[in-house]
Amino acid sequence: EFIKEVTGIKVLEEQLREKLKLDYVVVVPGDSDELDWVKHEMGKACVEYLQKQLSPNNTVAITGGTTVAAVANMMTPLQGAKRCMFVPARGGLGERVENQANTICAEMAKKARGDYRLLYVPDPLSEGSYQTIIQEPSIKEILNMIRNASIVIHGVGDAITMAERRKTSKSQLDIIKERQAVGEAFGYYFNRKGEIVHKVRTVGLQLEDLKFADDVIAVAGGHTKAQAIASYFQPGQSNVLITDEGAALELLRDS
Ligand code: F6P
Repeated sequence: EFIKEVTGIKVLEEQLREKLKLDYVVVVPGDSDELDWVKHEMGKACVEYLQKQLSPNNTVAITGGTTVAAVANMMTPLQGAKRCMFVPARGGLGERVENQANTICAEMAKKARGDYRLLYVPDPLSEGSYQTIIQEPSIKEILNMIRNASIVIHGVGDAITMAERRKTSKSQLDIIKERQAVGEAFGYYFNRKGEIVHKVRTVGLQLEDLKFADDVIAVAGGHTKAQAIASYFQPGQSNVLITDEGAALELLRDS
């Protein structure tokens, strides 16, 4: 029974890797929408992957959200992390403190025994303040580190769920709905075709910076996120996906 289960998972991983044209896929058993520990299993899988990929002097940029928080939760001291730097990928994006990239970044770095820098910027920003803030030398310095990250770990969310969780203004929420956004990552909202239909203005990693990283790891699961994951991967910005069986089965269904 166990062998059958393991073989089944391997098949799912291979099918997903081909379908989304990725370098590496991990599928953990279960559905994180139904069972909370499944999210921690994804976190553990991400830590294992990071353990293999990390070399000294690497910079790891991470986003917020409960799934990346689960990665931090499962983090163990990493070989070679001594001279590694953990940084938040973008500004706060309106999340609660425990779901913010800054908070998660500090915890992850401590557990990995690495170093970290934080990004203090209010969000969302007006165009005027944005232009001023990015000229600040201390902000410039960390933004440079973020842009040069060799590994990025990020969440993917359902568009409406994320817009509501962030207390997005009514006018922006209307735009997100009207333009039929289904997925969200890095503050970008995507429609079914993977087109960017809305973007939160904040400092930090922009989608076009991702191509300079060696590894961009999406960690997202649960059957309700399948459409969001599919939309985000349309243009193929990440090369690694760590997900669960719930999302994997759903992703392979609607083709
Ligand atoms: O707000 C940060 C973020 O990474 C979003 O980009 C993403 O949609 C969301 O969190 C995922 O959150 P969760 O893992 O809690 O579903």
